[in-house]
Amino acid sequence: MSDALLARLDKITDPASGKGLVDAARLDGAVIDKGVATIVLKANADEDSATLKAAIESAALELNDVERVRVITTIQRSPGAPTKADAPRQAAADSPRPAKRIIAVAAGKGGVGKSTVAANLAAALAKQGLRVAILDADIYGPSIPRLFGLRDIKGLKKTDKGIKPAESHGVRIVSMGFLTKPDQPVVWRGPMVQGAIQQFLNEADWGDPDVLFIDMPPGTGDAQLAIAQTVAIDGAVIACTPQDLALDDARKAMGMFEKTHTPILGLIENMSVFLCPHCGEPSDIFGHGGARAEAEAMGVPFLGEIPLTIELRERSDSGHPVAFGDGPVADAFARAADAMLASADEARKPAPEIAFSS
Ligand SMILES: Nc1ncnc2c1ncn2[C@@H]1O[C@H](COP(=O)(O)OP(=O)(O)OP(=O)(O)O)[C@@H](O)[C@H]1O
Ligand SMILES: [Mg+2]
Repeated sequence: MSDALLARLDKITDPASGKGLVDAARLDGAVIDKGVATIVLKANADEDSATLKAAIESAALELNDVERVRVITTIQRSPGAPTKADAPRQAAADSPRPAKRIIAVAAGKGGVGKSTVAANLAAALAKQGLRVAILDADIYGPSIPRLFGLRDIKGLKKTDKGIKPAESHGVRIVSMGFLTKPDQPVVWRGPMVQGAIQQFLNEADWGDPDVLFIDMPPGTGDAQLAIAQTVAIDGAVIACTPQDLALDDARKAMGMFEKTHTPILGLIENMSVFLCPHCGEPSDIFGHGGARAEAEAMGVPFLGEIPLTIELRERSDSGHPVAFGDGPVADAFARAADAMLASADEARKPAPEIAFSS
């Protein structure tokens, strides 16, 4: 930023507020480089921007070191309005949304704790009083029924409001596991996976929850595609463990969402440190901190570290997610859930669209 240039520009009055342009926070940038002044003006739909641009140009040209002026206006899109990059999501964006926020939890690899993370993020928000639902889209190994003590449910009823979800701890749940027998291998072709996910998203009586989580199956992309074609989701949380190999997979999972223009809300490092059940002493079994570094390198938010504990596994197996209770693990999930919501808010903010003036 050039101070001399800013001082000049602040003498121009912002028509909306009556303050100087700098004071009114109308400028996103003002630099002079090799005689060219480049000024980024936040456009305001209600004003005559040509007059304002002319005033900026002549103010900048008053400076000795400015020979030419470029004014770039950034147009704020209204929330939800599409950009060109969003085109593949457009059909999905036009469909009715089954929840205020829809967040997928995914991992590139099996067994890193994706379902555990999804269940406990949901539990952490439910504990804060939010209305939460989960779609368990993992056809190949659905584990949300076990995590919420719903293993005995076989089949789902249909009412005049749609497919009736099961409910546990106040969380509405639809799982592929309610439709398949636990010990029978299921052979689902891609289109069947897509059809089932689309039907559940559109036709279940979710009750307009604050957040609908989708526990994603690992792998091929059928589910990612089905979801991207059905609703505009807010974004995806990627679970990983600190090991390098799992991080490689996390990168692949992120790539799959990026193909469908789905924002990555952040990375969670699960099984981060082992907390001894006797003394609480932490030890780094798989190493630690890899996900934070990876998130930084990839420019995605780091949502937090979840320790490896026996209590977490036991409570998962007994159908009472640990984040409904208290203690260090519940706190870790609560912090991650808050960071995730903050990231979802950020992802909703309209991206400035840059229009170059001649
Ligand atoms: N932080 C943790 N501490 C202790 N046990 C954990 C932790 N995270 C997950 N587990 C346990 O690891 C196992 C795998 O977790 P989970 O089923 O959540 O993984 P997943 O990624 O969803 O697996 P899948 O690919 O089969 O869907 C479960 O037995 C779970 O209880
Ligand atoms: Mg799972």
